[in-house]
Amino acid sequence: MAKPPLVFVLNGPNLNMLGQRQPKVYGRATLADVEKLCRTRAEALGLAVDFRQSNLEGELVGWVQEARKAAAGIVINAGAYTHTSVAILDALLTAEKPVIEVHISNVFRRESFRHHSYVSPAAIGVIVGLGPLGYALALEALADQLRGGRRKAR
Ligand code: DQA
Repeated sequence: MAKPPLVFVLNGPNLNMLGQRQPKVYGRATLADVEKLCRTRAEALGLAVDFRQSNLEGELVGWVQEARKAAAGIVINAGAYTHTSVAILDALLTAEKPVIEVHISNVFRRESFRHHSYVSPAAIGVIVGLGPLGYALALEALADQLRGGRRKAR
């Protein structure tokens, strides 16, 4: 049997604190819960998942570079680097893979500095405000994309 396509699910700074971090904003689910959700949904969709988190910008850049060869697609919640990192944008553009951007909270209901994303220009879609479910929906969108879905990745 052919190997299932591998999707990198990359999480940026402070997402390791999910469950303890501002529960009114991010809820009670931990990052381990999010990983479990991703693995269950990926298996149902015929995808394999490599789930990672880092507090370091350069490490995230390195993982996106790795995805260029190793992954069929990328789901990324870059955390606060979403709003600051040209380096992550450049890496994502270089990866030339379908990218879905996820945010647990609805960034548009929050401070204005969260309204701009450096990641979005590299993404085929963005999911915000739906909690951990957003990751599952992102995997579904990627599976559709990898099957040759209607919206072609650039
Ligand atoms: C976040 C939103 C960002 O603004 C914030 O810096 C995060 C988490 C989210 O998932 O809602 O760390 O990406």
